[in-house]
Order: sequence, then C-alpha cells, then structure tokens
Amino acid sequence: MSRNAVVQAIGHAVPSKVLTNADLEKIVDTSDEWIVQRTGIKERRVCDGPIESTGWLALKASQEAIERSGIDPLKIGLVLCGTVSGDYIWPSTACTVQDQIGAKHAGAFDVSAACAGFIYAMSNAAAMIKAGEVDHALVIGVDSLSKQVDWTDRSTCILFGDGAGAVVLSAEEDTDRGLLGTVLMSDGSGGKFICIDVGGSRYPYGSPQSVGKKETITMQGAEVYRFAVQAMGDACCKVLDKLHMTPEDIDLFVPHQANLRIIDSAAKRLGLPSEKVFLNVHKYGNTSAGSIPLGLYEAEQEGRLKRGMNVLTVGFGAGLVWGANVIKW
Ligand code: ACO
Repeated sequence: MSRNAVVQAIGHAVPSKVLTNADLEKIVDTSDEWIVQRTGIKERRVCDGPIESTGWLALKASQEAIERSGIDPLKIGLVLCGTVSGDYIWPSTACTVQDQIGAKHAGAFDVSAACAGFIYAMSNAAAMIKAGEVDHALVIGVDSLSKQVDWTDRSTCILFGDGAGAVVLSAEEDTDRGLLGTVLMSDGSGGKFICIDVGGSRYPYGSPQSVGKKETITMQGAEVYRFAVQAMGDACCKVLDKLHMTPEDIDLFVPHQANLRIIDSAAKRLGLPSEKVFLNVHKYGNTSAGSIPLGLYEAEQEGRLKRGMNVLTVGFGAGLVWGANVIKW
C-alpha cells in the first residue's frame, strides 16, 4: 500500500433538451428501428440556446463534484479537462473552469483525446498525484459534439449527444483504493477515419486551402467500428494483465458508450456477465469524453458502484486513441 489518487466525489451535467430518434426522423432519412438496431441509441441530450456549451457543462459537473467532495477549491492543484469541443480554440476549457470554481492555485490544461479524453486525463492526474506534485485534482470529461456534427449527414448525426462528468481526486497514503493501473495507446495513422478538417492551422476557416474541406465531423463508420471492437478488448486485456488481474476481479465495467454492439463485443471478449456491464447509451448516445464519467456517476447513483469496488473503464476515439483504467472506487 502506498500513496494513490482516490476518487473523493463525482459530478455530472447533461443539457435538458432531449432529441429522440423520432425527432431525427424529421431531420434526416433515418428510422428509429435502424438507429436502435445499429447503435442501441434511443435518444440523446443536446445543448440549446446561447449559454449551453462545453464550458457550461464542464462547470456544472465540476461544481457538483467539488460540492460533494467537500474539498476547498483553493486546495486543488490541477484541473484537467478531456475535451475536443472546448468553448474556444484557446484558452482551454480547463482554464475557464479553474477561474469559475476559484481554484486559484491550480495548473490547468485540456487533454485532446476525443472519446478517450477522460481515460487520458485521469491517468495523467493520478500520475501527478502519485508523484507528489499535487494533492488534489479536478478531472473533467466533457463534449458537446452536437455543435460539431453535420445535421444533414445521417451516418454521424444520429450518434452523438452532449454531456459531462467530473471527479475530484485526492492523494491518500497507505490505501488500497485509487487508480490501480492504466494503459494509453494511439495510432495516428488512423486519424483520417474520424476528424474535423477545418478550423485548425492547416485549413483555417475561410482560407483558400479550406475550400472543399468540411468544418464538421467526417467519419468512416465501418473503419472506426472495426478499430473500436479490437481496441476496447485489447486495452482491457492489457490493463488487467499489467495488474495481474482477471475479468473476475472486476465488479463493474463502464465502457465508452458509443455503440451497444461495440460494448457487447468487448464484454463478450472479457467474459463479463451483463449485470457487470454499465449501459446508458440508449439515453445519451455518444457523449465523447463525457461518456465514461457520466456512466460512473449514474452507476454510483443507481447503487451499482460502491466504495471499494474494482471498476474497469475503457475508451476509444479520434486520433486514433484508446486506453483503459482500473479504479478501486
Ligand atoms: N439511417 C438509415 N440508414 C443509414 C443511416 C441512418 N442513420 N446511416 C447510414 N445508413 C445506411 C448507409 O447509407 C448504408 O446504406 P447502403 O448499404 O445503401 O450504402 C447502410 O445504412 C449501412 O451502413 P453502414 O455504415 O454499413 O452501417 P453499420 O452497420 O456499419 O453502422 C455505424 C454504422 C452505426 C456508424 C457503425 O459503423 C459505427 O457505430 N461505427 C463506429 C462509430 C463510432 O463509434 N464513432 C465514434 C468514435 S469516438 C470519437 O472520437 C468521437
């Protein structure tokens, strides 16, 4: 037993506006039956109006986590925000949250790892805590990809929703709780399979070189699907091997909620029974970096995730990136 980064409390935020499959039938040529069969998604939440944004969701989730943790924001030494849909290209969403919560002594930065953003951010925050650099960290996973999809493209707009989760992590000595192990992976050669071309420095908005390029998400669904099925299982097996654990040691599996079929295939490969698999993809769709902490939050609220349980989290996304964390809750 040694110093570890232990989850003190978790918070969440989703917009109140619900977009059902029936609503999407009115926007693009699709059907509830097709979406449910191929993805398991029935509805998703989307930001509405001028105020609701990634930063707004991140702040709400963070405020809930901090309030539940009872930790003074002045003691927080690090704010990490996993997101690819920040309020601005810069400054970072982590910095805007740092200011709004009054974490005056914290370093703050965003982690760009798409749907694996929370996995990556947790891993980095825990490493800083274990190394003794900080005692308390706020880790956020948040996205509002409803702002980045092409609402005329039926192959992508049905998949995504908006949401956030945040945890307060604190150093504890001589504990068996905390982030037990982590695996982070990437393959940049697959970057073209899911991307937004315009808006960065290669194809700036309105530039001659951006002509013919898209400002919204483009995705080769079948390629991403194949990658995801392999990556989810690989990351889980790798992190379990590293910890000399087996799937039987896992009390709850909270995977990135992109597609029910992808989750099912990962659970099957691990031999996990359905009661150990947390699902909310039907309610929220793919909330990108928000998905895993939102799942952890709801699992805890439902009494399925309790102190001392081993929870396996895994995510994959644009980059391509993937990774897994085992946390003793
Ligand atoms: N409604 C009706 N039909 C549709 C729709 C729709 N919304 N979308 C596509 N189709 C059609 C296609 O045009 C195609 O028709 P065709 O055969 O006449 O050409 C047919 O349905 C089958 O399309 P496929 O793409 O083969 O469908 P598939 O079974 O692969 O499912 C899906 C598509 C759901 C997108 C799947 O590929 C998938 O989930 N991929 C992974 C996507 C993902 O998880 N992305 C997030 C990555 S995380 C991140 O970083 C943000």
